[in-house]
Amino acid sequence: MDVTVIGTGYVGLVAGSCLAGAGNRVTCVDVDENKVGRLNAGEVPIYEPGLEPLISENLAAGRLRFTTDAAGGVRKADVIFIAVGTPPGADGFADIEAVRAAAGSIAGHLRPHAVVVMKSTVPVGTSEIVRDEIASRTDVPFHVCSNPEFLKEGDAVADFMYPDRVVCGVDTEHGRGRLEELYEPFIRSGKPIIFMDIPSAELTKYAANAMLAARISLMNQFAALCEHTGADIEHVRRGIGSDPRIGPAFLYAGAGYGGSCLPKDVEAVIRSAAQRDIDLTILRAVNEANERQKTLLARKIRRRFGDDLSGMRFALWGLAFKPRTDDMRAAPSRAIVAALRERGATVAAHDPVAMDQARTVYVGDEIEYGADEYETLAGADALILATEWLQYRRPDWTAVGERLSRRIVFDGRNLYDPERMAELGFEYYPIGRTQVGPQVVA
Ligand SMILES: NC(=O)c1ccc[n+]([C@@H]2O[C@H](COP(=O)([O-])OP(=O)(O)OC[C@H]3O[C@@H](n4cnc5c(N)ncnc54)[C@H](O)[C@@H]3O)[C@@H](O)[C@H]2O)c1
Repeated sequence: MDVTVIGTGYVGLVAGSCLAGAGNRVTCVDVDENKVGRLNAGEVPIYEPGLEPLISENLAAGRLRFTTDAAGGVRKADVIFIAVGTPPGADGFADIEAVRAAAGSIAGHLRPHAVVVMKSTVPVGTSEIVRDEIASRTDVPFHVCSNPEFLKEGDAVADFMYPDRVVCGVDTEHGRGRLEELYEPFIRSGKPIIFMDIPSAELTKYAANAMLAARISLMNQFAALCEHTGADIEHVRRGIGSDPRIGPAFLYAGAGYGGSCLPKDVEAVIRSAAQRDIDLTILRAVNEANERQKTLLARKIRRRFGDDLSGMRFALWGLAFKPRTDDMRAAPSRAIVAALRERGATVAAHDPVAMDQARTVYVGDEIEYGADEYETLAGADALILATEWLQYRRPDWTAVGERLSRRIVFDGRNLYDPERMAELGFEYYPIGRTQVGPQVVA
């Protein structure tokens, strides 16, 4: 099939490459000339495990190409995915301007019975806006479907290749048939394509992210209760996660959820419900709890060292919002860096893949970087763990202790064992677990 993907970011690039991998001829379109140029030169602009070989193989096979020319890109396409960003607007609503622009750029160039698929996460009703936008510019018959994406950064290729389920909102047999044909190679292990109406598909994506965010915020609040009662959130997590009605995923207390999806999608669905006079009280609390959680490590640090951190130095392990990605959008590390710098401290950071990204976030010498994680520790008053990268899980504690000027660790991901940290002679501040050292309850 001839497929065009408009928007070549985390979602569009992965979807386009995987669809090419299944034998389709795929054109990826983006307005960012620099990105398209780099991709055509064989350079992959994001870090995502497994993506680079997939792109190079499909480029070499002639099944994948990158262009800024939307009109040329869609002329032959049977299916066009819109996968542009829908960032939060100033008012918290999802900003769908890029979606409208993408629809406008393809409208006059569709072949008859082309299927336009909304892959971006969009408020209910957006697919209809796209339909109207296109219909106002062409007489050619076309179909609109909704196919929200559930891939996780860090596992995006595997998630697309082996989805748990594919959700498709359709209102014509033709649209349904095209999506069935396109996804059939990816669900051979028996995973379902769940067909439904378009508004339900649009809302399913928000409901999924809302549910995941709610689990995390609830655990974070139980972690706070643990700190006041002597209970251990890790025991509680295992205790409830073994209940099949609850399940073990997304129950980890930590420094708050981040990334480009959960925070913005929770906010966006709250806003779009409010527009219809529906108050999503639970989600508002989920959001509020997370905003507070993102300041937890900084509050603990202030409890331990006082409000004035000037002249102090902190080592920060992890900048990406989670492991196996270089994405720093809404990462908890950013809240920590901002709070420390605001109070006069210096931050030396390390991340296995996100340091190039960080250099676009922090200008000049706003933060320092270590060539490896140990280099950040020299003369630091404490180590802060913000992202649970595999390589941080079993550090050489002798080397850590020798380099730090004080043996103090703030662990935003509960990676280490309090008893072991006590044996090693570290002050240790995890989240919702036994602390080692002067008690700091924030
Ligand atoms: N990143 C994720 O993990 C993830 C997962 C599921 C769903 N989503 C959703 O998918 C959508 C895309 O997310 P992303 O993370 O890939 O975004 P992104 O910011 O990484 O990529 C968006 C791309 O679209 C391009 N673009 C913007 N306007 C354009 C236009 N008019 N024509 C062509 N290209 C245009 C941008 O240049 C950019 O390269 C969002 O709605 C997001 O909520 C993201």
